[in-house]
Amino acid sequence: MTNRLVVLASGSGSNLQAVIDACSAGSIDAEVVGVVSNRIDAYGLVRAEEAGIDTELVQRLDGEVRQDYDTRLAGAVSSFEPDWVVLAGWMRLLTMNFLAHFPERVVNLHPALPGQLPGTRAIERAWTEACAGTRTSSGVMVHLVPDEGVDDGPVLAVREIPVDTSGTLESFAELVHTTEHALLVETLSTLCSE
Ligand code: GRF
Repeated sequence: MTNRLVVLASGSGSNLQAVIDACSAGSIDAEVVGVVSNRIDAYGLVRAEEAGIDTELVQRLDGEVRQDYDTRLAGAVSSFEPDWVVLAGWMRLLTMNFLAHFPERVVNLHPALPGQLPGTRAIERAWTEACAGTRTSSGVMVHLVPDEGVDDGPVLAVREIPVDTSGTLESFAELVHTTEHALLVETLSTLCSE
């Protein structure tokens, strides 16, 4: 059975693109049936439209509390009837008002190792720590999102990446992103073949 993926993306959507390409190539037994963003300027929306994928923009309304936003978001995502909900550069914390709709079906990608550097700018923080001599490696992980823990949850896949401070932040970031693309595709490929 071809799995139905809904991808949530707030930004450039390079991970979304990797998933779209892998589905087209048959390396993930799935189809991206919908892309949802909270940001009107998310380039991920353009990528989706270019691939002929339905998109939905769910912006926070003035004064709307997080729980109410999440209830609306869950409605938009549910309408695509996903087997898996993939957070690929989704830059909003999710409450149980969203997560309870998709138990054990929400997958997040984070550019750091389990238990390390939760939250935003993890790549820059890993680089800063490495330059200060307090870190020699970082990495990428894909995990399930069971609850409101930030970048935390049952780990599906991990890849460690050495931080080579003889290079630049840009070259390190590029390596992290390339690794993310590969690890997300590999993990979804496994999930969708089970
Ligand atoms: C990725 O590094 C992701 O792990 C992080 O935000 C970045 C999104 O990149 N949370 P993109 O939008 O997929 O290009």
